[in-house]
Amino acid sequence: AQQPVTVTVTGAAGQIGYALLFRIASGQLLGSDTPVRLRLLEIPQAVHAAEGTAMELEDCAFPLLRSIDIFDNASEAFSGTNIALLVGARPRSQGMERADLLEANGGIFKPQGEAINAGAADDVRVLVVGNPANTNALIAQAHAPDVPAERFTAMMRLDHNRALAQLAKKLNVSVNDIRKLTVWGNHSASQYPDIFHAEVNGTTGAKAVDDQAWLENDFIPTVAKRGAAIIEARGASSAASAANAAIDHVYDWVNGTPEGDWVSAGVPSDGSYGVPEGLISSFPAVSRGGRWEIVQGLEIDEFSRERIDASVRELSEEREAVAKLGLV
Ligand code: NAI
Repeated sequence: AQQPVTVTVTGAAGQIGYALLFRIASGQLLGSDTPVRLRLLEIPQAVHAAEGTAMELEDCAFPLLRSIDIFDNASEAFSGTNIALLVGARPRSQGMERADLLEANGGIFKPQGEAINAGAADDVRVLVVGNPANTNALIAQAHAPDVPAERFTAMMRLDHNRALAQLAKKLNVSVNDIRKLTVWGNHSASQYPDIFHAEVNGTTGAKAVDDQAWLENDFIPTVAKRGAAIIEARGASSAASAANAAIDHVYDWVNGTPEGDWVSAGVPSDGSYGVPEGLISSFPAVSRGGRWEIVQGLEIDEFSRERIDASVRELSEEREAVAKLGLV
């Protein structure tokens, strides 16, 4: 039998937490032969709610679930953790400026980065889900100098999955027929879902669609604004699909991505594709031997170039803003 893996989930009493924890405990995060120890982090006011979720987890009698511990203190929550899912974040309240939002999140992700640095396992892998995810990941990373920088990632997999589903629907094919789709840039409305390199049954996504107006006026905005459309329809933000994407990201990170395909992941830039080094931006990425690698050498046409640059510019501005606040 395999050794148990310790997984810390922050914001455990929230919506995504509720959709995520049961899937982790059932074995979907790491694989069906890996036992899991769960460590939940919440703010003090939400600890009791987290206890309720823990009672339900217990009541599932999951064979792989070895333990559940609940904390309101980051140092304890990240002690010995192998996988850290940073879901809890400070949402933008009405009238809040971007600098205030970044600062409020700095107050969460700085101490969490420090706690990961101080106490997590040597092989710790971090996925930031809480928004603004890319820049929150950068803040946590900046406060964990002893952890390899590449272990800090931001969730772009929901955007990736949304793009896959929209393209499959348009072409009336299965998502299994589509490979090598990429969402580039920031997890925000500026993100760029790219179908020029995608492969669909022997041709490219763009050629299969053959409809530039759909691409520009329908596909790209539908994917980028899907989160808002879900809030409008459901009266609450995407939770189950976000949890699903977190599962996909970590599963692939640990177990590898399939040969002949890639996914979208927010990983530290090595300078590829003109993305300034160190920015945590979404790239086409494969996972090999437990590490993300940015797919190299893709030709970027002018249409894509403009859109990638715009999203990356936004990431650079966010980095400048948190640098001014002394957070990176
Ligand atoms: P939610 O509001 O239901 O839950 C958030 C939880 O985090 C709350 O229980 C809150 O008490 C907790 N929390 C706040 N500060 C904390 C701290 N310092 N330590 C530990 N826990 C803390 O929100 P929901 O729907 O679960 O979403 C969580 C985050 O995920 C939001 O920032 C949301 O914008 C983001 N998100 C990101 C997506 C992505 O694709 N990257 C997709 C969907 C949501």
